[in-house]
Amino acid sequence: MAVKAILKMGEPSLLIKAKEVKNFGSPELLQLLQDMRDTMSQANGAGLAAPQIGVDLQVVIFGTDQLNPRYPDAQPVPKTVLINPKLEYLDEPSGDLEMGWEGCLSVPGMRGLVPRYKHLRYSGFDEWGNAINRQVSGFHARVVQHECDHLLGILYPMRMTDMSQFGFVDVLFPDLGPHEDD
Ligand code: NI
Repeated sequence: MAVKAILKMGEPSLLIKAKEVKNFGSPELLQLLQDMRDTMSQANGAGLAAPQIGVDLQVVIFGTDQLNPRYPDAQPVPKTVLINPKLEYLDEPSGDLEMGWEGCLSVPGMRGLVPRYKHLRYSGFDEWGNAINRQVSGFHARVVQHECDHLLGILYPMRMTDMSQFGFVDVLFPDLGPHEDD
């Protein structure tokens, strides 16, 4: 187990573009992924990007085996390692965005209503360099956009269009009951 500290909003390194991974299957990459899995599961997150633990590489993980208690209404998303991702928004050019609540382990205790594309195709690689290519929608598409934004130095509040819909989770959702810090 190597649970790493999760960097919080305000940290300059969360605002930079991450570098491409060149060496698939390397011990360093496999160790990074183990650290990310340990850190995400301990924090009960739906996803984590390498820059959130201070590693400047285009690596994200997301998904859960079962429903995430932080997102009880969400569709299950398969556990995925996605490296050097490319996103293609299938809603363009109509720009048909859907609003949805998001949280982030780097913005603990907060939630915000964020516009995202409903449908997208994403491609990239797993840790061994095997190609991934999926067409997804809804919550799965939202999670991918959120995590890949971390690789561009973008946190979800920077995507928000109505800051009146940004607040503390225990105030916004008092009926949610006890929750993780984020
Ligand atoms: Ni996040």
